[in-house]
Amino acid sequence: MAGERRLCATEDLVDGGAGVRFLVEIGGRAVSAFVVRFEGLAHGYLNQCAHVPMELDWQEGQFFESSGLYLMCATHGAVYAPDSGLCVGGPCRGASLSKLRVDERDGNVYWLPESPYEAPAG
Ligand code: FES
Repeated sequence: MAGERRLCATEDLVDGGAGVRFLVEIGGRAVSAFVVRFEGLAHGYLNQCAHVPMELDWQEGQFFESSGLYLMCATHGAVYAPDSGLCVGGPCRGASLSKLRVDERDGNVYWLPESPYEAPAG
């Protein structure tokens, strides 16, 4: 599909395991994003807590808390449902992560850039 970006191979994303980080652009500004797998499906989000726009993963790629059931911001502990991005606990309960469109096929995971997100050049 035109404009899509390959993020990783299917086997790189383990359910409830480490995520893969990538960059998107918003109005020419590079912003961190990530993709994780939960209950078999790949989900992509901006790597920005809904509370304060800080990256979620203190240790690179570690987005899930220890049970593997929720994404967690390592800074102040907001927890998010991995499939919807909804904050279900912590300082920003009720807010959501910004979801990105991802697609998985033929053994690869792709990001499909949609406004206001653009793929960085190169
Ligand atoms: S910055 Fe993420 S919980 Fe506050």
